Amino acid sequence: DNVVVAVDVGVDRIAVAVVCLGGEVLAHRFRGHQRGQHDVAHVVESVARMVEDVLAVAPPRTRCLGIGVAVPGAVRARDGMVRSAPNLGWVDEPFSELLGERLGRAVSVGNDANLGVVAEHMRGAAVGYTEVAYLNASVGIGGGFLVGGVPLTGASGYAGEVGHMQVDSVGPGCRCGAIGCWETKVGENVLLQHAGRQPGGGPPAVAEVIAAARAGEERAARSVEEVADWCGVGLQAIVNLFNPEIIVLAGSLSQVWVAAQTRVTRSMERSALVSPHGEILICAAGLGEDSPLMGAAELAFAPVLDDPQGV
Ligand code: BGC
Ligand code: NA
Ligand code: ZN
Repeated sequence: DNVVVAVDVGVDRIAVAVVCLGGEVLAHRFRGHQRGQHDVAHVVESVARMVEDVLAVAPPRTRCLGIGVAVPGAVRARDGMVRSAPNLGWVDEPFSELLGERLGRAVSVGNDANLGVVAEHMRGAAVGYTEVAYLNASVGIGGGFLVGGVPLTGASGYAGEVGHMQVDSVGPGCRCGAIGCWETKVGENVLLQHAGRQPGGGPPAVAEVIAAARAGEERAARSVEEVADWCGVGLQAIVNLFNPEIIVLAGSLSQVWVAAQTRVTRSMERSALVSPHGEILICAAGLGEDSPLMGAAELAFAPVLDDPQGV
């Protein structure tokens, strides 16, 4: 069988999957970063070992056609150079080249959210839509867009960096060096910290804060409300720019949306030119947290599908 290996390099963990052409996952692995390190050499080594591991247990006669990797940063389309991945602390890291050299084969690299929207469109919540905004929040916030059914890449591949829209000119410093970026107001760790929790607990920790807010814990409730308000500010900026028919949310953004829909909507209405009411479908990602990983699989298949003779 022909397969690809898909990789999602997150800020907290690395996910690897062996994926068939139809999107079926044959093997799935998750691992935290080696010794908690984000430096590029460690990440290259961790990813390479995980890729070798999953391929070693793949059934006989499996042929790996390519490797696709999603990263939480702006990736130059022509060569896979990671120009900036603020929450990994990377600037101009030739990740694609380094991983390709280590594995001895070509590797395709893309932005996590730009890949996520493709996967949601193929087999997730956005099937059949052409004007799509996909937004995922973990430590950072990413955006991926389809305009007229076509993925929006921008001139170099950097389109969709919604996490770094300035929403608060006196807001906190961002890992990117600017201040008041959207992700400093609504990222997962922001919600946890405002609620007095340790950062880094991921979706379960966010769920715990939401449950505590429901149970009447005041600090938790205030954190959810504040994050919901800032969610609305950013979502409406995106609506004003793109007029999407559907907004697909993943990570803590979808958790906050589900928990505080009315509050998010009210905040959107406040900054709306045209009321989004009744015209935009907002929903959770159909592939959960796997959309970037599944999009990375599509990226790996792309050259093969473009050139069937090459198989
Ligand atoms: C990065 C984006 C990424 C997002 C989600 C942001 O900090 O700039 O490229 O898509 O985090 O991982
Ligand atoms: Na993006
Ligand atoms: Zn920023």
